Amino acid sequence: MFYWLILVFLLGLSTSAKAVVSGPCSQCHTMHYSQGGGILTEWGTNGPYKALVTKDCIGCHTGTNTGVNKTPYVLSVDAPAYGETGTESTTNTLAGGNFYWVQTEDSKGHNVEGIAGIDQTWNNIPPGGSDLGHQLTCAGRYGCHGDPNIEGNFASLLGAHHTKDSVIDGSSVGKSYRFLYQVLGYEDDDWEYRPTATEHNQYRGIDRSSDTQNDPSTISALCARCHGDYHQDISSGAWGSPWLRHPTDYDLGNTALGSEYRNYPGNYGSAPGAYSVIAPVASEDVSAPKSTVNFQNDTIVTCISCHRAHGTPYPRLLRWNYFGWPGTTEVNGCHACHTTKD
Ligand code: HEC
Ligand code: HEC
Ligand code: HEC
Ligand code: HEC
Ligand code: HEC
Repeated sequence: MFYWLILVFLLGLSTSAKAVVSGPCSQCHTMHYSQGGGILTEWGTNGPYKALVTKDCIGCHTGTNTGVNKTPYVLSVDAPAYGETGTESTTNTLAGGNFYWVQTEDSKGHNVEGIAGIDQTWNNIPPGGSDLGHQLTCAGRYGCHGDPNIEGNFASLLGAHHTKDSVIDGSSVGKSYRFLYQVLGYEDDDWEYRPTATEHNQYRGIDRSSDTQNDPSTISALCARCHGDYHQDISSGAWGSPWLRHPTDYDLGNTALGSEYRNYPGNYGSAPGAYSVIAPVASEDVSAPKSTVNFQNDTIVTCISCHRAHGTPYPRLLRWNYFGWPGTTEVNGCHACHTTKD
């Protein structure tokens, strides 16, 4: 009985420690940015870094994903395997895609400082939003992760990597979905390395009834922090078909019973109502990943139904080769919802 309790306790601990860093402190920290009078070869060369870490965000998050690596890698040294949609069984990119391609083509990713130069088309102006006045950073005031009210990569997410986050409630950066302050969601254990209908992130969305409505816990509201007009265009005041801009935070269940949308995900899933990792839909309830959907607040269009946040091999960070279809590719994720347009 006693041992049984200990076992239950240990199992409980291991799940609650899900997305927390582990291992010797010295693997990630250096007290003086010096060891034996110099810096170690595995450290970053531009230190000392804040929070006494051995590398910056990009330094630690550069590598090749294998499915068992404990650090999510978002930048690869060599071209990553993306396949057609970043979801096939031969791929090694994660949910956000990869920053590899933006290093040579501005439109294939977010031009984050330290990875790529300033975007030659947009400069620091997010389309649909206002000038950031500074190049994009990983986190903080000019970035996506961390607290947007605080400037600086480390300052804005201090403590997040050590936060026990078995509950994602948005109350702190560490307890927010992927350190995106206030955003909710279910976090897949391997960050969607080769995701399937049963193993994937579950994104948070809401079924809105007006264009100006905005709930900061949705993944689309994160994008809207910078690209506001594409999500809640205050000036248009329009909401409904025929649309002025593609709807987001809007449920497929709003369409008529016999509509093409009710056959989601068309050819990109095993049957109507199966979840598709090619064109994912969000839900209001994010307590667990959904393998099937009921067209009731669980088939919500999000920005990342079509885009990936970091980058892809395609222009505009699109998940599939939109501009190459038909011809170059047979895959066009638009058909997951627009099932009669193939
Ligand atoms: C796998 C890498 C990793 C390991 C191992 C690690 N840390 Fe950290 N730690 C980080 C990173 C990254 C940050 C900065 C970003 C953040 O705070 O989320 C950090 C931040 C901190 C901070 C400042 C934020 C806070 O939570 O107060 C302290 C203190 C700290 N670590 C102490 C330790 C100690 C002590 C150990 C060993 C028991 C340790 N760390 C092991 C990666 C690591
Ligand atoms: C010393 C190495 C190190 C540094 C520096 C570091 N990270 Fe991490 N990061 C890790 C490791 C290891 C993990 C996986 C453990 C975890 O999920 O907390 C991780 C996880 C993450 C995650 C995923 C969290 C989740 O919910 O799965 C994000 C997002 C992230 N880091 C962003 C950043 C940002 C932004 C910075 C710079 C401010 C940064 N990291 C700096 C090592 C590092
Ligand atoms: C912190 C501000 C910020 C956030 C948050 C943000 N973006 Fe951006 N985005 C920018 C800026 C600045 C640009 C223009 C420069 C560039 O491409 O890096 C941009 C460009 C883009 C582009 C066009 C890329 C190109 O070069 O043509 C797309 C598509 C995009 N963002 C989608 C998204 C999506 C989807 C999200 C949410 C997952 C998001 N963005 C979140 C700031 C942001
Ligand atoms: C996750 C599902 C989903 C995906 C993926 C998707 N759409 Fe849509 N789309 C919708 C929904 C829902 C509507 C609104 C339908 C309505 O109100 O009747 C819509 C509306 C539209 C409209 C306007 C129709 C109108 O009634 O005004 C166009 C055009 C459109 N989508 C094109 C595209 C294209 C092109 C793609 C691929 C880049 C795409 N969609 C991907 C779900 C999706
Ligand atoms: C239905 C699929 C779909 C959804 C949902 C969607 N986008 Fe896009 N987005 C596209 C496509 C396709 C393009 C490129 C061609 C175009 O604009 O028609 C694009 C282009 C962009 C651009 C570049 C615009 C330019 O001037 O080149 C930005 C920025 C962007 N999207 C951000 C967002 C944000 C933010 C959201 C959520 C509020 C979002 N997108 C939702 C499909 C989508």
